Amino acid sequence: MKYINDYAEGERVIAFCLVKSREVGVTSNQSEYMNIEIGDRSGSVIAKLWDVTEEHKTIIQVKSIIKIDAQVQSYRGKKQFVIQRVRLATEADEVLMESLIPASKYPLEDLWNQLQGFIGEIKSDVLVKVIREILANEELVERLRSFPAGVKMHHNYYSGLLEHIVSLLELAKRLLPLYPHVDRDVLYATCILHDIGKLYELSDAIAPDYSTPGQLIGHLVMGVELVTEACRTHQIPTDNSEILHLKHCILSHHGDIEMGWGSAVSGKTPTAVIFHYLDQIDSKMNALGQTLSGMGEEEEWGYAGALRRRIWRGF
Ligand SMILES: [Fe+2]
Ligand SMILES: [Fe+2]
Repeated sequence: MKYINDYAEGERVIAFCLVKSREVGVTSNQSEYMNIEIGDRSGSVIAKLWDVTEEHKTIIQVKSIIKIDAQVQSYRGKKQFVIQRVRLATEADEVLMESLIPASKYPLEDLWNQLQGFIGEIKSDVLVKVIREILANEELVERLRSFPAGVKMHHNYYSGLLEHIVSLLELAKRLLPLYPHVDRDVLYATCILHDIGKLYELSDAIAPDYSTPGQLIGHLVMGVELVTEACRTHQIPTDNSEILHLKHCILSHHGDIEMGWGSAVSGKTPTAVIFHYLDQIDSKMNALGQTLSGMGEEEEWGYAGALRRRIWRGF
């Protein structure tokens, strides 16, 4: 199957895609045009639609699934689709969501089973109770199985957050034998819950944006709120030391407060400090991996947004 990024200049594209954003403009002769960011699992492309009608404006909305008939042209050195015909997809088209948005390369059930395996390795009753209570919420689980870890920076694809969590757990497991002064159970629980607030900080899995509570509260505090709620359900005292430690690790995971990256407190235990670096390793390596795989074979340099600089492929 051919996806939108597989088409070369000059080709005709007939494909289903997802509208990620759209902008209406007016030409010098007063007709309207639309710049539409369309995407599928291969990535996204800017498509142009000339002579926009009222019907176009109604059907082409963010998150609409559309079928396009377009020509691939080049605009300022980048591929641009010029749409000739467009319609909304219908149920009869049977379009699969997995074909429309980039997704984790790991099978969802494998990631889910790995997560369950790690929860099974946690010995602390209190931490297991809190994790299981949070994961007893069906709506939350549905989000956890589908949400990206972010809009742009890293693991920004379907099931990306779950992949990030499992990857952190693997990383933690490998490093723990080197640092016996790190609390294994709290570290595992932090890997699982540090970004759990993102499930409400972001709007949805398909075309995620920041929600209003997400912008006003942020995923660190939202995560701690979920932990507090779970403790209340199980009558776990608020001064329980493992819970206090877990909350501290969640609230400090974006690094020292002086960095300005959104931590509520600076890490004050070896577990909190190591977790911040694990999170950094996993997020940066994922972002760099995506930069490299998005580069053409002949390209030596690519831009990595997460590092705000170009990176070199090497030899
Ligand atoms: Fe985070
Ligand atoms: Fe994270």
